Amino acid sequence: MPRVTYHLPDGGSRTVEAAPGESVMMAAVGNAVPGILGACGGGLASAACHVFVPEPWRALAGAPQSMEDHMRDMTVTERGPGGRLCRQIAMTEAPEGPQVQIAAEQA
Ligand code: FES
Repeated sequence: MPRVTYHLPDGGSRTVEAAPGESVMMAAVGNAVPGILGACGGGLASAACHVFVPEPWRALAGAPQSMEDHMRDMTVTERGPGGRLCRQIAMTEAPEGPQVQIAAEQA
C-alpha cells in the first residue's frame, strides 16, 4: 500500500499507509498524526490540515485549486512555498510519497 510521511515540528516523522484516493488528511487523522486536526472533516472550512510539501514532492501532490488557495489565508501559519490543505491531496498509486511538513504553529 502507498505510504505518506509526515515530518513533525519536533524533528521526528511518522510514515503511515494510505489507500490510493484517500486524502493525506484522512490518513493523518486515522493514524493520530499530531498537528493534523481535520477540524471540519476536510470541508475547506477550517484550514486545520495545513502542511508544507517540500520539493520534490510537489509534483506528486499537485497544485491547489482556487478555493483551497483562498483558504490558505486562514491558516495559523504564514503562506509559504508548497503550502497545501492536505485534505485536498489525494494519495496516488505511487508507493512512496508525498512527504509533508507540519508547521510548529499547527501542532
Ligand atoms: S480540515 Fe478543514 S480545511 Fe482541512
